[in-house]
Amino acid sequence: MLFGCASLCTRHNNKSMSPDDIRRVLQYYQDLGIKSIYRRGSQLTAPVSPSAEPEPILSFDDLPPMPPRTPRVPPPPPPPSPKMIDLIPLAPENDSLERIRTDIGDCKRCRLCEGRNKIVFGSGNEQSSLVFVGEGPGADEDASGLPFVGRAGQLLTQMIDGTASKEGLAINRSGVYICNVVKCRPPENRAPQPDEMEICGQFLFRQLSAIKPKAICALGSTAAKAVLGTKEGVTKLRGNWHKWGDIPVMVTYHPSYLLRPYNQNAKREAWEDLKKVLHFVYD
Ligand code: URA
Repeated sequence: MLFGCASLCTRHNNKSMSPDDIRRVLQYYQDLGIKSIYRRGSQLTAPVSPSAEPEPILSFDDLPPMPPRTPRVPPPPPPPSPKMIDLIPLAPENDSLERIRTDIGDCKRCRLCEGRNKIVFGSGNEQSSLVFVGEGPGADEDASGLPFVGRAGQLLTQMIDGTASKEGLAINRSGVYICNVVKCRPPENRAPQPDEMEICGQFLFRQLSAIKPKAICALGSTAAKAVLGTKEGVTKLRGNWHKWGDIPVMVTYHPSYLLRPYNQNAKREAWEDLKKVLHFVYD
């Protein structure tokens, strides 16, 4: 018979071990060839001779057979998180901007309603061949209810009007339609969260479907993500045509980004992008 010793601790990390746990530990020792368990210290104080062997407190031969190991059943998946709202089906028949605005109502579908003053639905030419999509209202837009009226908005106006006049195209800001992915101002102007984008995105998509522009210009990464469903950054996406359904989409930098003083290159690229869009739509 092989002899070994081990101290069997029936507490682990201050938690009592269950009989099954103890059985498993014993099985482990037995697999290692250890056949008996002695009280802690008994081996050290005992002389190392077979005759001085201490009495085992437990012999594996006395153990009842191990119950068969029950296979680990993976925990059930968490229940799907309750939808905050029932999404209205996309683009109902005969949809119109008026109907979409009515459906938005005094929206409480997501947390952004808590800090907003005004819902910023969109503005401009409702039959426009070009729609600009921004991220979400800032402080000025939240106060006025109109998109892109603050500093970023003034830059956007300059970009559209300036490029069009330089390129000899008969269009200006009032001839295009401008809206945002989310219609309520995110607190501290933070980026909209995925659930907010999903909820409000349905209204953006209905706006785009109702207007059916010849092209869409997505301003910044939130708009690009919402319209193209991609995680790719603006730097990668900009300058080339993409599609929303069968409508061509140009992604370019958000005007707020262009307002930062060190983004001269981005500014030049944004003007190039805009030139492409305006020529495509208005040539
Ligand atoms: N930034 C946006 O994305 N949208 C606005 O309406 C204003 C600033």
